[in-house]
Amino acid sequence: MSQNPRPPHVLIFPLPLQGPVNSTLKLAELLCLAHIDVTFLVTDHIHARLLRHSNIQTRFSSYPGFRIQTISDGLPEAHPRGDRFLELFDSLKSKTKPLFKEVLRCGGFSCVIADGILGFTCDVANEVRVPIFYIRTISAACLWVFFCIPKIIEAGEIPFEGDDLDILVKSVPGMERYLRRRDLPSFCRSGDLADPNIQLYKTESEENPRAYGLILNTFEELEGPILAEMRSMCPNIYTIGPLHAHLKAKLAAKATSPTAFSNSLWEEDRSCIAWLDSQPPKSVIYVSFGSLAVTTSNQLMEFWHGLVNSGQRFLWVIRPDSIAAKSWESEVPVELSKATKERGYIVGWTPQEEVLAHPSVGGFLTHSGWNSTLESIYEGVPMICWPYFIDQQVNSRLVEEAWKLGLDMKDTCDRSIIEKMVRSLMDVGKEKFLERADQMAKSAKRCLSNGGSSHNNFERLVEDIKSMSA
Ligand code: UDX
Repeated sequence: MSQNPRPPHVLIFPLPLQGPVNSTLKLAELLCLAHIDVTFLVTDHIHARLLRHSNIQTRFSSYPGFRIQTISDGLPEAHPRGDRFLELFDSLKSKTKPLFKEVLRCGGFSCVIADGILGFTCDVANEVRVPIFYIRTISAACLWVFFCIPKIIEAGEIPFEGDDLDILVKSVPGMERYLRRRDLPSFCRSGDLADPNIQLYKTESEENPRAYGLILNTFEELEGPILAEMRSMCPNIYTIGPLHAHLKAKLAAKATSPTAFSNSLWEEDRSCIAWLDSQPPKSVIYVSFGSLAVTTSNQLMEFWHGLVNSGQRFLWVIRPDSIAAKSWESEVPVELSKATKERGYIVGWTPQEEVLAHPSVGGFLTHSGWNSTLESIYEGVPMICWPYFIDQQVNSRLVEEAWKLGLDMKDTCDRSIIEKMVRSLMDVGKEKFLERADQMAKSAKRCLSNGGSSHNNFERLVEDIKSMSA
């Protein structure tokens, strides 16, 4: 009697931060929908936060092939992981690596999908003979800059001296026309090649072509020219983004309506949706700097004055841990509080995808994290970019210069500039930005429909995974 073959079984191992966990959970669900079993391997720390704030358990309860497994990141419970990424990374490399090897050796997995910044996973996978795909949850543009760090160093373009940050960088093929020193990943400004971040991103990115394939949360119509360059080093690339929308499209095609998605590591304040419901169409600028950025109270005040002086309505996320000074609330001038009551709304964390899809939202003041950028592009919301660190410096340049989807405000935090840019995006330049954002949103939607690039690349990924367990 013939038996049903066991479905392929994938181990997904994300980088333990909000952005990568978000994207990989979406990939996990897409694979479950394609009848592939998934074990989602997260650190105890992330697991505890997911259980506390997300609805992951109910969300995945309809997928019998999905399970979560936990692993230690080797750090003490109270360690501030997001702030001290290098320490987290070192600990993963030394303490988590042997545990990961055990998980992989005993799990009977068809393949592993690991975050490509965790280069050690490729050594382990090769050792235990399990095929490995890498996933990078940043833009192809930034990843390409990481790939080119050896070339940039060889050309003497980093480290650089002097404070002219507008000099063009010539050794990143495809970006020669617009990439300036100031648009390089933030750590390139350190002036020291021994900087641990330069070493980390250079070394780990060099590992990426060793994997069977590279999965990227982007789409061809957005980053085609860069992807063409990247394929010269890393030929097997699966562009399957924007992942959040890809998942929605697949669920809609199956007429499935699962519980609302929440992968949050913070408590969502849904009252902002009711507030948005009462605002005029495209009248609100949404302000959020993601899950890691920390601002000084001085910067907070510049933003606050700038937003209020712009005269626009705003919805602002001030994460409980995002302001360096603890006593900032008592320092807010009365006139700002008054203006905020009239046309602003402040929360600690939002259901961001829903916010960006809301008809009242007409602009996004963002830190240019890659998930936020893709979510904004998909919903046709123009951006003002205030990049905080690492990849965000590259993303914000592309938003303004390559894609013309907004304004890059990097390296300044001044109330009059904020006011001017908010007015330009939401008022004087509104039509131009909205028209361009609408065109890009349409191409994002096309790439996910039948025959579209991300749709086809995902089918290919599923076939490749299935062939590994045959
Ligand atoms: C980090 C890095 O900062 C970023 O540059 C890199 O691309 C990925 O890792 P993060 O700061 O978390 O990411 O930013 P981003 O990638 O934009 O991800 C934030 C996620 O949190 C988004 O999916 C966004 O929808 C979600 N979010 C943010 C909420 O759900 N609610 C909020 O209030 C704010």
